[in-house]
Amino acid sequence: MDNLVPESTPTDATRQGEITLVGVIEAEILAGNVELPPLPKIALKVRELINNDGDLKDIAALIEQDPGYAAAILRYANSVAFAGLKQVADLSTATQRLGLKAVEQTVLALSAQEAFTSDNPEEERILSQLWDHSLATALGARRLTIKGVSPELAFLAGLLHDVGKVIVLRCASDLRKQNPERFNFSDLVLREFLDELHCRIGDQFLESWNIPAEVRDAVRRHHDTEFGADDLLPAIVSCADLVASKLGVSLHPNPDAHLLECPAAEILHLDDVKVANLLIDVEDDLENFKGA
Ligand SMILES: [Fe+2]
Ligand SMILES: [Fe+2]
Repeated sequence: MDNLVPESTPTDATRQGEITLVGVIEAEILAGNVELPPLPKIALKVRELINNDGDLKDIAALIEQDPGYAAAILRYANSVAFAGLKQVADLSTATQRLGLKAVEQTVLALSAQEAFTSDNPEEERILSQLWDHSLATALGARRLTIKGVSPELAFLAGLLHDVGKVIVLRCASDLRKQNPERFNFSDLVLREFLDELHCRIGDQFLESWNIPAEVRDAVRRHHDTEFGADDLLPAIVSCADLVASKLGVSLHPNPDAHLLECPAAEILHLDDVKVANLLIDVEDDLENFKGA
């Protein structure tokens, strides 16, 4: 198997029989005809507090009202980014440990999980695989962070990198409901749509959530085959995406992938030892994060 086939490469099947459907799906989304998940209220409120010069105490008080978020922030603050420090049990210490910007980015990242759910069991299966993949990519991106990129920004970009697939999936399912005969595509074809459209659509969608431009840039470019010295975040996400595939946590598992041959390897200064440690660390992080 080729190790570095970009997900966005369309297959012959897509090209010959279904090309118009890709266009229809993209046009529907861009025209605003698909109901998109709104940014969860808690993320909006945290952002509002920060914009109004709120401090960490205000933010901790706000997050405390939502037990799900409170637990998630604690879990994050106690995870590998702060390995070696004492475990914290209260939200106020956790938010202090993280800092204002990191709390905002972490709340944004965690709130994205709500977009990865569906009432339809078939869709839910793909979305849950996608969420696991996004989490593995986020943890990989955090581990790959090098000078110039904060771990939380890398985590956020990793978690959101394939959100375009969620949107395309929703659109495809709406279209199927409206016109089951015309839009009765197979699972395989649907996955090809996801691959072909998700970078562009993800970027567009995240604009509606006012996600920082640098994160959107990484989302749009994570399947690029070349990265320059200024492309640290896209390179980190691209490499983390491959780490997740190599670990088998992906819609495209690729255990034979060679990380040292990935387009981002050079600017991330990867070598054999770093790659070996990275794979072990991300697997551990994933287990800790899900099991906590
Ligand atoms: Fe992707
Ligand atoms: Fe991915």
